[in-house]
Amino acid sequence: MTALTPELEPLYQAAKAAASQAYAPYSQFPVGVAVRALDGSIYTGCNVENASYGATVCAERNAIAAGVVAGKRQFDALMVYTPQAQLTPPCGLCRQVIAEFFLPETIIYSSNHQAQLQGWTVQQLLPDAFTPLYLANSTKVSTE
Ligand code: THU
Repeated sequence: MTALTPELEPLYQAAKAAASQAYAPYSQFPVGVAVRALDGSIYTGCNVENASYGATVCAERNAIAAGVVAGKRQFDALMVYTPQAQLTPPCGLCRQVIAEFFLPETIIYSSNHQAQLQGWTVQQLLPDAFTPLYLANSTKVSTE
């Protein structure tokens, strides 16, 4: 567990505000996420659930998508916020999406309503990730 630093405070506040917009009538597990692009701009997302449960989109992917829509392709910080005593790490699907847009050594933080924090590197969350590099370095094989 780590402490909330002045550098992380804006991300924490943004993630907390995003969680308050969560649409989570089925799980009642609101999540907010804030991501920071390399120019310092912050984008947020919340989980958006659906009556067809599999159509639910997590807060992490919505926050990253908001940054991508704004033209960002690289992020250097991510903060998850859940109003839970337990600190929530990103799900498996979101780890794959994080690996696409964050460097392996970037720390992904989870926080809660008590301002407690836990951090993991992208590498720890998803070791040996399948990234765009594998496609760039691939031998093109005809499948006709
Ligand atoms: N959820 C997220 O938004 N992010 C996570 O990292 C974990 C799970 C959401 C999906 C669903 O709306 C609810 O939390 C319960 O799984």
